[in-house]
Amino acid sequence: MAAIAQPVSVSKILSKEDLCLLQPLPQSCGIIIFGASGDLTHRKLMPSLFSLANENLLPKNFYILGVARSSLTDQAFRDKIKEGLKDSGPLAHEDDFLSRCTYLAGDYDDPKTYKDLQQRVNGLDKVYQTEGRHLFYLSTPPALYERVVAQLGAAGLNKSSGWIRIVIEKPFGYSQDSAEKLNEAIHKVFQEKQVYRIDHYLGKETVQNILMFRFANAIFEPVWNYKYIDQIQITAGESVGVEHRAGYYEQSGVLRDMFQNHLFQLLSLVAMEPPSSFDADAVRDEKTKVMASLCGIDCAATPDCVVRGQYAAGTLDNEPVPAYRAEEGVNPQSTTDTFAALRVEVENWRWRGVPFYLRSGKRLAKRETEIAVQFKHVPTSIFKPLLAEQISSNILRFRIQPNEGISLCFEAKHPGPKLCMSTVTMHFDYEEAFGVKPPEAYTRLFLDVMMGDQTLFARHDWLSLSWKFLDPILNHWENQKAEGLAFYPAGSWGPKEADDLLEREGRKWLTL
Ligand code: BG6
Repeated sequence: MAAIAQPVSVSKILSKEDLCLLQPLPQSCGIIIFGASGDLTHRKLMPSLFSLANENLLPKNFYILGVARSSLTDQAFRDKIKEGLKDSGPLAHEDDFLSRCTYLAGDYDDPKTYKDLQQRVNGLDKVYQTEGRHLFYLSTPPALYERVVAQLGAAGLNKSSGWIRIVIEKPFGYSQDSAEKLNEAIHKVFQEKQVYRIDHYLGKETVQNILMFRFANAIFEPVWNYKYIDQIQITAGESVGVEHRAGYYEQSGVLRDMFQNHLFQLLSLVAMEPPSSFDADAVRDEKTKVMASLCGIDCAATPDCVVRGQYAAGTLDNEPVPAYRAEEGVNPQSTTDTFAALRVEVENWRWRGVPFYLRSGKRLAKRETEIAVQFKHVPTSIFKPLLAEQISSNILRFRIQPNEGISLCFEAKHPGPKLCMSTVTMHFDYEEAFGVKPPEAYTRLFLDVMMGDQTLFARHDWLSLSWKFLDPILNHWENQKAEGLAFYPAGSWGPKEADDLLEREGRKWLTL
């Protein structure tokens, strides 16, 4: 007998509003931050945790234990945190929050530090009833990661009656080999499901929105391919210079600092296939395939697809700014890349032949991160004598920051009796639509670690492929030294060579 279709039970269908309410609170836990006297902790991590506490999104029972080499009392640590919370909005729960923050001074290489740590967390676990759940956050200089992880393992801090998770800040290695080595060291102590490799771009609301935009709307996906898209550009412009980070940046340069992680993550999100679900591994599988499809090209051997630049002295906001080589702590003959532009192709069916142009640099004209998707021209023009190529093609922009939002440019008839057309813009502004500023990226990421959700964290295979793609370029640059390094005035959009990269293909940068 044929089965009779059962009516769908209405009570089981969740609305969009229910979906939001479904987000449960994390379980109680202790948050242990290594590198707690550093800049990142006070500028980003503590304000993010505080804002979660303020919004009642942290569990009722939690504590924060800072670990670092500097000798600080609990009170001095709290004072430093308080200083960093100055701009964090309503301070309703400040005293309660600060009372949960304590500090442990110790050498990262000394086993005694970890013995002391074990004792401290045992005590704090009892006070806060955290049942042995610990989130370790490595915000130390990256050279210490392997050693800290090994010490955590040796002290048995990787085991507990509750969950243990470890968050690792970028940079995750400086080449494919070193990333593999670091990964092996981590996997000796922690299982992959415990490891959260953070890339703060993935916590940005507008970056998360790329997946919503692509996969919660039906109208864009059918045209999201080589048949309709002419090119995709990803720009992460920064107006700041190297600031006080010359020690790190001289070893890194923009390719390692911005491309290997942030720009390649944006590229992966915009180019990936629809995942089978919004599950961490399903999403990350698709992103990894994008990186694998990039690896068909050897950019180092194709000079026409890479530009390396460094800022010379220039002007920003009408103020003179020094050259990179004149910045404090920078070698006056430095060949470090502060700007790079790449032309890559994602070699698969969807993207065959579509160029992806990526660029990022310090001391550019503006702080602006955006993805611009330019569609093809209309196939023919009925508005003669205008030719099809003279009718502007549609551009969809994901404005990651600032002025977060999405816009779509299209052609419209200009008012009046004559046949004139203009490009107009349809605009979604994040702040205007939702009435709030996008939250700090780290808030979402902290919450996800506490919830055990790895979707917004880099998986090792993705990372390894991103290094595999970049290694030949980095090696090539190292051998080239100053040869081929293009200088650009601070306050510009980078060297002319970056414009040439597109112009030789009849395109130009789609900067607003
Ligand atoms: C960091 C880089 O990962 O990202 C910095 O190390 C860079 O050099 C920063 O300035 C940019 O982040 P944001 O969120 O300001 O775009």
